[in-house]
Amino acid sequence: MFNPGDIIRSSNHKNWLLLDQIDSDGQGNIWIAKSHPEIQPQRVMLKGGQIPSKEIVYPVNISELPAIELSQDDALYAVKILKNPTDKANSRFKLEVLAESAFSDPRIINILDYYEPQLVHEKDPPWLVMEFVGGGNLQEHGVDGTWQYQLEESLKIFKEIVEAVHILHSNEPPVIHRDLKPANIILREDGSPVLTDFGICYVIDDERHHVTEFGEEVGTRGYIAPELRGTKQQKPTQKSDLYSLGKILYFMLSGGHVMDDEGFTDEKWNLKIEGASSQVEYIHKYIFKHTINKIPEGRYDSCEDLLGAIYFVQELLYEHFYPKEKGRRCVVCGEGEYVLPGIRVGLSRLGLAQPAEEGSVDSYWPHFYICDTCGNMQLFTTKIPSKNEEQDA
Ligand SMILES: Nc1ncnc2c1ncn2[C@@H]1O[C@H](COP(=O)(O)OP(=O)(O)OP(=O)(O)O)[C@@H](O)[C@H]1O
Ligand SMILES: [Mg+2]
Repeated sequence: MFNPGDIIRSSNHKNWLLLDQIDSDGQGNIWIAKSHPEIQPQRVMLKGGQIPSKEIVYPVNISELPAIELSQDDALYAVKILKNPTDKANSRFKLEVLAESAFSDPRIINILDYYEPQLVHEKDPPWLVMEFVGGGNLQEHGVDGTWQYQLEESLKIFKEIVEAVHILHSNEPPVIHRDLKPANIILREDGSPVLTDFGICYVIDDERHHVTEFGEEVGTRGYIAPELRGTKQQKPTQKSDLYSLGKILYFMLSGGHVMDDEGFTDEKWNLKIEGASSQVEYIHKYIFKHTINKIPEGRYDSCEDLLGAIYFVQELLYEHFYPKEKGRRCVVCGEGEYVLPGIRVGLSRLGLAQPAEEGSVDSYWPHFYICDTCGNMQLFTTKIPSKNEEQDA
């Protein structure tokens, strides 16, 4: 229906030039676009819709979309055009726009413009304009193995994703995303994540709008919480999003695997991270167990709790990686001291090693330390004095 070079006009009477379609797998077609305020449109979506007025009560507390001043620069935007418009799909799409517009945070996609067909019989699909986020989606990165074993980096990104979901859950009324999965996390050029695709979000305790009904299974297999599967579903809650969040972390750490169920300790699914078994234990114990849990009651109550667990695990990893004080006691027997046996291990792929930068005397490498009492072996990443420093001493 749309072709590169088409110019479409929004309900705000802004023109957008479609450049290239970048995704067509889901409910919408995603285009890269530019703003085109100075050009007379050759193809105009007539009878542009009205921006929602204050009189209409929407589940998310916004009254109107932001009036935007389009810059005439070369900035790129992304346009999402609904593929199969029906009354129901259009209503959902509108909720997606409203929900996404309700949040203003760099970790949540920024909506700039919107087109809503006015007449019921109109065949034109609704569409929305977003900031263009140019680093690809998490699914693509996970599948090419970019993050496999990168514990610290994965946790850092994961924490930002959980913070974004926390913002949704803290809204009044709370918004449940319901489709948290790697393809719905897109990355900025600097690698920071942005939460997108609120197409099936659910607004808690809001009886005014039923556009995101429960009762029909929506969401994505492998990520959707057990209580939302099948026909006898419970209502989506914060805990159902927490389940999907755990699966996202699993996907990142496993190098792009989707675990169908909750078997993260099964031989088949167990994360096998060379030389990092104790770190994996922390992830299992403090994150997976309280997110990828079949029973909602077994999960954390909120993103806040999950964030606390992430901080805690980061702290544990930090402690294990950097035995700061000399004479630190063994983490197992509590008595012995660690002695550095001088084995430099090639574990830079763990993401723990930070090789010296060009011209720098500092070098951080993983080393095995051995307890002089119980013989426990632990992996720490430590700064090893350079030859010059050793000679100076
Ligand atoms: N603002 C954006 N900037 C850059 N790429 C984007 C943007 N929005 C979406 N994409 C790309 O398009 C893909 C699909 O986007 P989105 O999930 O919003 O569409 P969808 O049709 O609802 O997908 P699905 O139904 O499969 O979940 C994303 O995974 C991402 O790769
Ligand atoms: Mg999507």
